[in-house]
Amino acid sequence: MYDRYNRNINYLRISVTDRCNLRCTYCMPVSGIKKLSHNEILTYDEIAGFTREAVKHGVTKVRITGGEPLVRKGIVALVEMLSGIAGITDLSMTTNGVLLANYADDLKAAGLHRVNISLDTTNPEKFASITRNGNVANVIEGIFAAKRAGLLPVKINCVIRVSKEEAAAREVAKFCRRNDLEIRYIKQMDLVSGHFSAVDGGTGGDCMLCNRLRLTSNGKLKPCLFSNVEFDIRELGFERAIQLAVELKPQCGTVNNTGEFYNIGG
Ligand code: 5AD
Ligand code: SF4
Repeated sequence: MYDRYNRNINYLRISVTDRCNLRCTYCMPVSGIKKLSHNEILTYDEIAGFTREAVKHGVTKVRITGGEPLVRKGIVALVEMLSGIAGITDLSMTTNGVLLANYADDLKAAGLHRVNISLDTTNPEKFASITRNGNVANVIEGIFAAKRAGLLPVKINCVIRVSKEEAAAREVAKFCRRNDLEIRYIKQMDLVSGHFSAVDGGTGGDCMLCNRLRLTSNGKLKPCLFSNVEFDIRELGFERAIQLAVELKPQCGTVNNTGEFYNIGG
């Protein structure tokens, strides 16, 4: 599918839950987030049905995100449903890694190709402070489990405040070099102010190259992270929502004050 600006929209990011087992300071407030109710969340049949429709319209890359996708019950079954769709050439997941050691082998067996794991620091105290009490050892175990399971290439997402030269980012870079992991730096963004920037090594944040659509866990199809434009796939039907999202994908992002990272999937 080509949009008005001749971008080939072939990448679908699916947020499967708004829940997370961490509370990263730049992603979630301490309290006061309204959790989506069970009825609002798309079922796996809806997600798979929608994805089938998107693939019919030219999507070839699919990424499962959250919140934290591994906290949703039965996630391996969803991976199996998606990997069974002919036409997906790249099926990946973005995870915080906390539960990955438990799931890596099953995800691989279900047909997941690869994972991106978030790691902003290797220092246990700093990690606990950024994630409001996460345990970095679990993530590191998860990273090794993903490598062993063959979820390759394992990529590490490292959120930086200002530059790659920050102490925490340099530690993570060293860890990645030692363990043969690809690192991607992501500048900390602010959805509401519209402060976003390109993610190096990918097309994220570079509007001219943006090839994505995002499906939120409650069924809103968003053509741009930094825009309030969204289409409800339950109200409109899958095909109409896809057509509208592609037709009305903004040339460039501005601000987003409807959603939050943890429900849009970053
Ligand atoms: N700015 C940049 N990246 C963010 N993520 C979450 N919130 C933000 C933000 N405000 C990233 C996480 C993870 C991915 C799911 O999104 O670090 O790598
Ligand atoms: Fe959870 Fe990822 Fe948000 Fe951290 S950034 S709170 S791991 S969803």
